[in-house]
Amino acid sequence: MKAAIIGAGTVGRSIGEGIKNDFEVSFSSGSFEKLEKWSKGEFKIFDNNVENAKYGDVILLAIKPGISDSVMEEIRSAAKGKLVISFMAGITLSHMQEMLKDSMVARGMPSIPMLVQKSVTAYSYKNLDKEHKDVLEKVLKGFGSAVHIDESYMDAVTGLSGSGPAFVAIMADSMINAGILAGIPKIQARELVIDTFINTMSLMREKGFSASDLRDEVMTPGGTTVAGIYEMEKANARTAIANAVLGSYRRAKEISKNSRD
Ligand SMILES: NC(=O)c1ccc[n+]([C@@H]2O[C@H](COP(=O)([O-])OP(=O)(O)OC[C@H]3O[C@@H](n4cnc5c(N)ncnc54)[C@H](OP(=O)(O)O)[C@@H]3O)[C@@H](O)[C@H]2O)c1
Repeated sequence: MKAAIIGAGTVGRSIGEGIKNDFEVSFSSGSFEKLEKWSKGEFKIFDNNVENAKYGDVILLAIKPGISDSVMEEIRSAAKGKLVISFMAGITLSHMQEMLKDSMVARGMPSIPMLVQKSVTAYSYKNLDKEHKDVLEKVLKGFGSAVHIDESYMDAVTGLSGSGPAFVAIMADSMINAGILAGIPKIQARELVIDTFINTMSLMREKGFSASDLRDEVMTPGGTTVAGIYEMEKANARTAIANAVLGSYRRAKEISKNSRD
C-alpha cells in the first residue's frame, strides 16, 4: 500500500521513517531541493502535492495548520475516495470533511518521541469502515502506540501527551541537577535518571500498579522516600505539574478556537 506524506518536517519525516517497512512512502513538501537533499533517493518524492496525493492510497498531512486550507483545496480531487490523516494541531474533523468533501478523514496528535518511533498518538476519525480503520492503526503504530479518543478531548490530549514530554524533561532535568549537586558525576546522574523514568513506567504498566500503589511500594515508615515526598508536598509539586498540563490545554483550546474563527 502507498502512503503519500505531505510535509517533510519533524513530523512528516518521523512518520516516513516509522512506516517505510509497511508502506511505499512518498513525500511532497515546501521546497523540492530540500526534499531531494534529505531523502537521498530513499523515498519517492514529488515536486507538487497533487501528484503525491494521486500516488498515495492513503494521504498524510504533516504541514503547519496555517497552510492547511490551501493544501486541502489543492488535493481535494486527487484525494477523492481516499483516507486522509491529519497530524495538524487544531484542525477539526468537520473542517477537514468540509474541505475535502469526498475523502474519509482522521486526525492524530503525536508526541515528540516519534523521532525514535515512540510516539503515543491519540486519534479520532469520522465514519471509517473496518478496512480503513485498520490502515489508520497500521500507520499510527508504525511510529509508536495509538490511543483512540473522542475528538472532543483532543485539546486536552495536546496538554497531556503532546506537551507532556517537555514536562517530563523538566522533571528529569531537576533530578539530574540534584544528583550533580549531591556529588554524582553528570554522565552517571543522567543515566540513573533516564532509567529511573523508563523503568518506573514499565513497572506501572507491567504490574498494573496505580501511581499511589507504586509510591507505597517505595515508601517505608520513617524512611528516605517519605522524607523526599514530604518536600515535594511542601513545594506543591502536584499542583505545579497539574497546572502545566492545564495551562497547555487552555492554550490548545485558544489556538483551536482561533483556527475555526
Ligand atoms: N513537532 C511536534 O512535536 C508536533 C507534535 C504534534 C503535532 N504537530 C503538528 O504537526 C504539523 C507539522 O509539524 P512539524 O513540526 O513537522 O513542522 P515543520 O517541521 O515546520 O514541517 C512542515 C513541513 O511542511 C512543508 N511545507 C510548507 N509548505 C508546504 C506546502 N505548500 N505543501 C507541502 N508541504 C509544505 C515544509 O517544507 P519546507 O521546510 O520545505 O518549507 C516542511 O517540510 C503541525 O501542524 C503541528 O501542529 C507537531
